[in-house]
Amino acid sequence: RACPRLGAPQAWSDIISTVEFNHTGELLATGDKGGRVVIFQREQESKNQPHRRGEYNVYSTFQSHEPEFDYLKSLEIEEKINKIRWLPQQNAAYFLLSTNDKTVKLWKVSERDKRPEGYNLKDEDGRLRDPSMITVLRVPVLRPMDLMVEATPRRVFANAHTYHINSISVNSDYETYMSADDLRINLWNFEITNQSFNIVDIKPANMEELTEVITAAEFHPHHCNTFVYSSSKGTIRLCDMRAAALHSSHFFEEPEDPSNRSFFSEIISSISDVKFSHSGRYIMTRDYLTVKVWDLNMENRPIETYQVHDYLRSKLCSLYENDCIFDKFECVWNGSDSVIMTGSYNNFFRMFDRNTKRDVTLEASRENSKPRAILKPRKVCVGGKRRKDEISVDSLDFSKKILHTAWHPSENIIAVAATNNLYIFQDKVN
Ligand SMILES: *[C@@H]1O[C@H](CO)[C@@H](O)[C@H](O)[C@H]1NC(C)=O
Ligand SMILES: *[C@@H]1O[C@H](CO)[C@@H](O)[C@H](O)[C@H]1NC(C)=O
Ligand SMILES: *[C@@H]1O[C@H](CO)[C@@H](O)[C@H](O)[C@H]1NC(C)=O
Ligand SMILES: *[C@@H]1O[C@H](CO)[C@@H](O)[C@H](O)[C@H]1NC(C)=O
Repeated sequence: RACPRLGAPQAWSDIISTVEFNHTGELLATGDKGGRVVIFQREQESKNQPHRRGEYNVYSTFQSHEPEFDYLKSLEIEEKINKIRWLPQQNAAYFLLSTNDKTVKLWKVSERDKRPEGYNLKDEDGRLRDPSMITVLRVPVLRPMDLMVEATPRRVFANAHTYHINSISVNSDYETYMSADDLRINLWNFEITNQSFNIVDIKPANMEELTEVITAAEFHPHHCNTFVYSSSKGTIRLCDMRAAALHSSHFFEEPEDPSNRSFFSEIISSISDVKFSHSGRYIMTRDYLTVKVWDLNMENRPIETYQVHDYLRSKLCSLYENDCIFDKFECVWNGSDSVIMTGSYNNFFRMFDRNTKRDVTLEASRENSKPRAILKPRKVCVGGKRRKDEISVDSLDFSKKILHTAWHPSENIIAVAATNNLYIFQDKVN
């Protein structure tokens, strides 16, 4: 089902920049280039149609970040939401972290269905009453009203990043989280906003010697001292935060095949996303052409490599000229770590089944998003004769790219962001 964004015209600010389910999948949050967060909630199963699974409807929309200007550095700070991460629910309210390039915010989202009435010193619209007119004391009462969802910023974690924040990750202790930028990773306590601890710093003494930047980082899902970060050189480091061990990280890298060396080798090997499997046993990385799965116990090569769109290998020159080669595709696991999903161009996205080794190319389009429409596998043909239903590499639309996707933690429901549309697909019922 497509959820066009509240009838808004297609605008730069509506472009979705992140998608994230909460830990049980009942809520789905998106962030966009305009700094807004939209939360969708899954409809409760209705009694009349018990077999119909709930659709996701807009639950709350709020402005998380505003454009700012750094006068010291003469730099514009975009409002674009780079990442959203949910905290597990602890009371009636929901909490999430959202970040732009510089500032992380902790938001509380809560419901209100009653409001106080009958104040003594102000009228129902909040205006102060003339005290001389107050002759009797009233007892304020709570009256029911239409459900209102409020988002309030509870903490603002600012002034700790000189470079652009690319990742935030909540620790499994739920007391701390980390934020990573191009050169540094900081650790924060949720309660303390004026101080963070630097846990990784790869800034060289002389910036001219800079050869590598941090591209993504994530905490291990169960071990609160362990985290991973990836780099623009295609490498992954698995680190342990306990002080003595901080510098003895594990280093994962696949030696390059010298026969494949080209001008683009380094650019296409840059890792755009890194994700632990739910089990915590594997790490998945996405680079420009492939997705790789690494076993934590094997550092010299991935145990699985999947080609996302190998037909682009011959097009790298034009993808460099139109800057697409720098696109940062994300990757996700399904709830049982058996299937991997990642995006491509032409609004195509790919799924790889790790057990059967089958893969499929699907398309997020309005045509496919009609209720009960079934996603038809798509095929890209490379040279030779194009068969019916196939699309040739030369007619792919490189302006339509699926960078951000999410997979429900326990069901076969996926959310796919295609420019300013959010598509939610789910398994056929029955
Ligand atoms: C996810 O959101 C739903 C609200 O629809 C809530 O009931 C559930 O507790 C949340 N899950 C977690 C783990 O926070
Ligand atoms: C942070 O704020 C707290 C409370 O206002 C204060 O006690 C503490 O000294 C501050 N820490 C730093 C590093 O400024
Ligand atoms: C080298 O290139 C071929 C295709 O030209 C590809 O199938 C193979 O995976 C590449 N090797 C590596 C190590 O990337
Ligand atoms: C993961 O994908 C497999 C294959 O489609 C499916 O059988 C399984 O139910 C999925 N697991 C979850 C938790 O979505």
